[in-house]
Amino acid sequence: MAVFAVGSDCVTCGLCSRVCVSGIIKVGPDKRPFVAEGDEKKCLRCGQCVAFCPKGCCSLSFQTGPRVAVDWSKFPDPASAETLLRSRRSVRNFKKTPVSMETVSRLLETARYAPTASNRQPVRWVIVMTREKLEEIGGLTARALKSGATGRKWDEWVGAEWEKGHDVIFRGAPQLAAAIVPNTVTEDGAIALAHFELAAHALGVGCCWAGIFNRVARKSPEVLASIGVKEDELLAGSIMFGNPDVPRARLLPERNPVNVTWLITPTSPTPPRAAS
Ligand SMILES: Cc1cc2nc3c(=O)[nH]c(=O)nc-3n(C[C@H](O)[C@H](O)[C@H](O)COP(=O)(O)O)c2cc1C
Repeated sequence: MAVFAVGSDCVTCGLCSRVCVSGIIKVGPDKRPFVAEGDEKKCLRCGQCVAFCPKGCCSLSFQTGPRVAVDWSKFPDPASAETLLRSRRSVRNFKKTPVSMETVSRLLETARYAPTASNRQPVRWVIVMTREKLEEIGGLTARALKSGATGRKWDEWVGAEWEKGHDVIFRGAPQLAAAIVPNTVTEDGAIALAHFELAAHALGVGCCWAGIFNRVARKSPEVLASIGVKEDELLAGSIMFGNPDVPRARLLPERNPVNVTWLITPTSPTPPRAAS
């Protein structure tokens, strides 16, 4: 069975061919799109041909789910989108009540729309759902920190603080989302985590990247094993989360000015001046 098919109602606009990342959708003399035999194995399964087709007449044999139209009426205006992105802050004060599994599933559902190299979608999640479990993992992490697993003096202090009952590792968070990828993959897990954090911000779930934990886990097989990372896998990163016990920040953060080098040619427009 052919992977790509086009219905008789095709308006021969050629959009499916123009958006095809692999360039395998060709347009015949009759302007109808087709994929030549042998080219189908180059398909990344990204589904852009079907998603962009204005008439809904393209189909892919591996797409068997319902077709869900984008509800563009819900698309945020630029200012709303910028407010969401710019107002995100790390949350380090959490209520004891955990975020429900339904809400976490909703965040993961959004994170799965993140882009991945060659559309491989390699990210696997481990969600620690209880403070009790996180404390167990934190205890192992603290032990590894104290024994100098990362070779950083500050980390040794963090381990000692844990033992005094001061959680500098997970900041008292009740839950943790860890993104795990095959050890040949680099960016995909971090992008998925960034989507997770922004979706959480929209829903009022508090997040903070767990950098100390990640650093230790990458050095300690015992800590890695505690969240089920296998030998041929990599912990791309993790984020602690929970219901915030602080209100939303009143002010936007102050950040450094944009650090940008404009590579221009004599015919380029003059770059804008940096914001002060
Ligand atoms: C990769 C990464 C690792 C981080 N690790 C930690 C961490 O282990 N503990 C912590 O309290 N905050 C951690 N943070 C949060 C940063 O401290 C925070 O993003 C930064 O201070 C800016 O503040 P904001 O997130 O509120 O805007 C981490 C952030 C990133 C991006």
